[in-house]
Amino acid sequence: MKAIQVVGIVGAGQMGRGIAQVAAQTGYEVVLFDAFKNSLDFGHNFIKTQLDKGTEKGKWSADDAKAAYAKIRTSENMTDLKNCDLVIEAATEKRELKFDIFRKLDEVVNSVAILASNTSSISITEIAAVTKRPHLVAGMHFMNPVPVMKLVEGIRGLETSEETFTTVASVAQKMGKTWIAAQDYPGFAVNRILMPMINEAVYALYEGVASAKDIDTAMKLGTNQPMGPLELADFIGLDTCLAIMNVLHDGLADTKYRPCPLLRQYVAAGRYGRKNGKGFHIYDTK
Ligand code: CAA
Repeated sequence: MKAIQVVGIVGAGQMGRGIAQVAAQTGYEVVLFDAFKNSLDFGHNFIKTQLDKGTEKGKWSADDAKAAYAKIRTSENMTDLKNCDLVIEAATEKRELKFDIFRKLDEVVNSVAILASNTSSISITEIAAVTKRPHLVAGMHFMNPVPVMKLVEGIRGLETSEETFTTVASVAQKMGKTWIAAQDYPGFAVNRILMPMINEAVYALYEGVASAKDIDTAMKLGTNQPMGPLELADFIGLDTCLAIMNVLHDGLADTKYRPCPLLRQYVAAGRYGRKNGKGFHIYDTK
């Protein structure tokens, strides 16, 4: 197994900043990279706020929060990831963007380092194939919000080596997460099951089975889920849900995965969910 000390994160959005926080709190040196200064500053400040909130709630000491924060270096320059032992990519869920990032990472990062992707649905085998080190590429799929959710889904690409897979599994475990192993098929394990459930909830709304509020209440109180499926879709982002349904539909070529027309319509209208205040429910964005 490889020794991992320095972890690079690509993308300071909601997933990247959560992974950076947890990595720093569990003793890793972190380099948080984002090409956009605004996102980088926002993500870095968000981590500080989360660490301070945790101190106020008595989850950890002020000294521990300070030490974790000090472990995070930020950069707008990808070459600053060159000495990382592991880089976890958590950029927007777009195929071409991820391929482009992995091509660049392969050029700038130490050639024996592991490159992992937090993709929720894009093939790890395809991502690995754009690099010259496919045996060193694996999927590490964290759940949102990263500091709270206990799971990391590990994905083996066709060429992922056993050493790479055991190394990333041990990193996730050191971060306090439970690791499950999934093969590289569309949606892996979590989204293969979660997204059809969300999509079915959208169909129920579309067909007038019940209101959005009642569908959520039904599943929250009737099946003990922390959020109803439509509320969860808003939380994940409706654009992301649609993108994952398209991956399932295209990749598995089965009509049972067709995205609900109402989901398409909401995304076309720019209703992306919580992130812009409007999805199946309305949110206060102030
Ligand atoms: N970052 C850090 N901590 C957060 C947080 C965030 N963004 N949001 C909430 N928390 C913490 C709170 O600080 C609080 O901690 P304490 O209990 O220690 O005080 C705890 O989470 C509970 O938060 P709240 O009391 O504010 O709210 P809640 O009880 O309604 O819980 C929730 C919020 C944890 C998000 C809960 O509703 C939940 O578990 N929802 C389901 C989330 C889920 O399913 N995520 C996976 C989505 S799928 C995915 O990510 C993969 C994909 O590919 C699409």
